[in-house]
Amino acid sequence: MTARFVPYLPKDREDELRRIARALIAPGKGILAADESNASMHKRLDMIKMENNEENRRKFREMLLCCGKEMSEHIGGCILFHETLYQKANDGVPFVKHLQQNGVVPGIKVDMGVVPLAGSDAETTTQGLDNLAERCAQYKKDGAHFTKWRCTLKIQQFTPTYQAMIENANVLARYASISQQNRLVPIIEPEILPDGNHDIETTKEIAEKVLQFVMHSLAIHNVFLEGLLLKVAMVTPGFKCPKRNTADEIASFTLSALQRRIPPAIPGIVFLSGGMAEDEATANLNAMNKLPNRPWALSFSFARALQTSATLIWHGKEENQKAAREEMLKIAKANGLATLGKFQGNLKTFASGKNTFVADNAY
Ligand code: 13P
Repeated sequence: MTARFVPYLPKDREDELRRIARALIAPGKGILAADESNASMHKRLDMIKMENNEENRRKFREMLLCCGKEMSEHIGGCILFHETLYQKANDGVPFVKHLQQNGVVPGIKVDMGVVPLAGSDAETTTQGLDNLAERCAQYKKDGAHFTKWRCTLKIQQFTPTYQAMIENANVLARYASISQQNRLVPIIEPEILPDGNHDIETTKEIAEKVLQFVMHSLAIHNVFLEGLLLKVAMVTPGFKCPKRNTADEIASFTLSALQRRIPPAIPGIVFLSGGMAEDEATANLNAMNKLPNRPWALSFSFARALQTSATLIWHGKEENQKAAREEMLKIAKANGLATLGKFQGNLKTFASGKNTFVADNAY
């Protein structure tokens, strides 16, 4: 019997997507998120009193991205912003080439940012579908092999609403399908923001609902599950909730929500750090990877929890670059071990214990 529908992707395209996805989350590896938009880069540069201009952003990325071959031991891929994809390191070689030569897969943020969702209580959707196919085709030619699209959902008294969950799930699925058609693995990010004083039980209930809508939309749009990664926040209490939870509790709440909603066909789930301190993010990831019944790789796609110490050590000075990179690689290694549940002891970093929470975080 022949199939009733035109196949969504040819077989060789499926194989390519599968291969890319697996490389990003190979055992012991995760993703460095360095795709802050030009507008949101001020948050990184403000920490060290640097002006947010093109050259300073380039210097900052030089510090993060040109770490040599060692980088690929624990970093499978790096998400870039448009500007960085076309910038060069001090040696005149494009950053994208540096990453490729060091065995790190370059990726690109393709959403055009969060915008208000009219008719809702301060909820949002994400724009960027117009011209997405053309942009994806060009990015593939220019060396990217995966993409990221971030949507945000807020926990307030009456939100997230069905309106916001349906809209964001649909836009994520449309994005994912366009990305896959252009041979780029989509990283689908329905981020539940940590703002609020709700408890961990509330976050879990909402995470399950949000994921249910996302999976439903992916199915409707025939998105190829083996060729994508999901990026989510860990299930934690709201940032202002007085009751804090242990790493073991966060791990079991998070894993339970994922087990209930995410099919094993998806190869990997990567976590954002969402303002957690570096050591906390690593401890939570490690605790999760010690639990049974994980049909997917559980890994990291941290921005703040990989960059904070390195940024503070670097402070914009050439002479601090080496020490900053070593610190970043040390944290990447700890997280690589955490993807295997093998990290031991406490992670001591320059910024240990320092949370980097930002209210209503834009990216
Ligand atoms: P944080 O790890 O700083 O939360 O950022 C990750 C990210 O890519 C958000 O989209």
